[in-house]
Amino acid sequence: MDRLRIVGGHRLQGAVTIAGAKNAALPQIAATLLSPYPVELSNLPQVSDVENMLGVIGLHGAEVGRASHSTTIHAKDIVSTETSYDTVRKMRATVLVLGPLLARCGEAKVSLPGGCAIGARPVDMHIKALAALGADIGVEGGLIVASTRGGLKGARIVLASPSVGATETAMMAATAANGETEILNAAREPEVADLAACLIAMGAKIEGAGTHRILVEGSTTWRPAKHHGISDRIEAGTYAVAAAITGGMLELTNARLENMASVLQVLEAMGVSIWPSDRGLVVSRDGPLRGTDITTEPYPGFPTDLQAQFMALAACAEGASLIRETVFESRFMHVPELMRLGANISLQGTTALVRGGAPLKGAQVMATDLRASVSLVLAGLVSKGETVVNRVYHLDRGYEQLDRKLKLCGADIERISE
Ligand code: UD1
Repeated sequence: MDRLRIVGGHRLQGAVTIAGAKNAALPQIAATLLSPYPVELSNLPQVSDVENMLGVIGLHGAEVGRASHSTTIHAKDIVSTETSYDTVRKMRATVLVLGPLLARCGEAKVSLPGGCAIGARPVDMHIKALAALGADIGVEGGLIVASTRGGLKGARIVLASPSVGATETAMMAATAANGETEILNAAREPEVADLAACLIAMGAKIEGAGTHRILVEGSTTWRPAKHHGISDRIEAGTYAVAAAITGGMLELTNARLENMASVLQVLEAMGVSIWPSDRGLVVSRDGPLRGTDITTEPYPGFPTDLQAQFMALAACAEGASLIRETVFESRFMHVPELMRLGANISLQGTTALVRGGAPLKGAQVMATDLRASVSLVLAGLVSKGETVVNRVYHLDRGYEQLDRKLKLCGADIERISE
């Protein structure tokens, strides 16, 4: 298992190219199973989650071009409608093939994801959405077993809360249903709107994606398509923290201001400057860092996927920060690891009180999930001496060449392969 060795204390300066959004790419790859025509996806990030998802749709019969930042997927025939426990266990997002397989083939069996490092993460809303579209659906022996008699039918789907995945499942399935579907309390994340843009390019008729109410006209006539995915706002936010935590200046090429308002607001409150450039965004800090309070929320609120990174930043700020997690109930695995580096954090339920300002000191730490791992790398950039982050494979799931990008901007970081 690879490790990252970081020697802290270097100010970052330069440009970082922000890759395509992983969370936009994964549902789009699943969506290609809906159509018998080729779909060319570009701006795919080269991360292991994307590779895995391409592998999964390959098992269902899709022909996948050579994986790179752009690839053509052709699901001419579906050869299997079952997904194994092993594939879903490795990556929860695999559950996104459920809607497309059911819609295209009238049946699907997808393993239930089960618990994971950041909480229970059930899929009940995905199941209810498909039931509303007329599917016979239930859980048998750890599998979600779904079928339709005579196809899915357009319906009104009211989501209990604005789940990103459930909105995507509902939207994908509805494209092939008979009649119109209305999805209420839909997730408004930019990745949902980008999935809609991809489906529209493939032939679907969808309105309102990016708002609480999405309308889908079913019975899509599919066609060959090309789609260029949006850039990764979470990766951009992570490098913004890298600039802020080291008192540096980074240009985030391809980052987009309009998808990051809540993040920029928090950065400004902490004493970090941000302005748009021709190519993206520039983030810099030369004054002191100030603590601030953060509450994670569904978009357009502050993203849960940046909570760990901002906790590392808060640990280096003057004063206290109260960080409240409202999206996932137990997303605090990074707390004990940040404390190993000297951060002063006390945790009560879903709230962390960070008393900032104590100098961090390098140590051996353990990566536990994707975003928790990157928070340890960020803390390592300012910790005195050497920090070694173990189990780096978590980082490779969602960050394209993290160590290389940081090194190019002046970080002292190296990957130790075993
Ligand atoms: C997506 C993102 C993930 C991000 C999350 C929240 C992808 C591939 N992943 O995950 O990086 O952290 O959005 O922004 O896009 N829930 C239920 N029942 C369901 C579905 C969800 O109770 O059927 C709960 C979850 O446990 C969680 C909350 O709803 O507490 C939000 O989850 P959701 O928005 O569905 O997240 P994902 O789509 O899994």
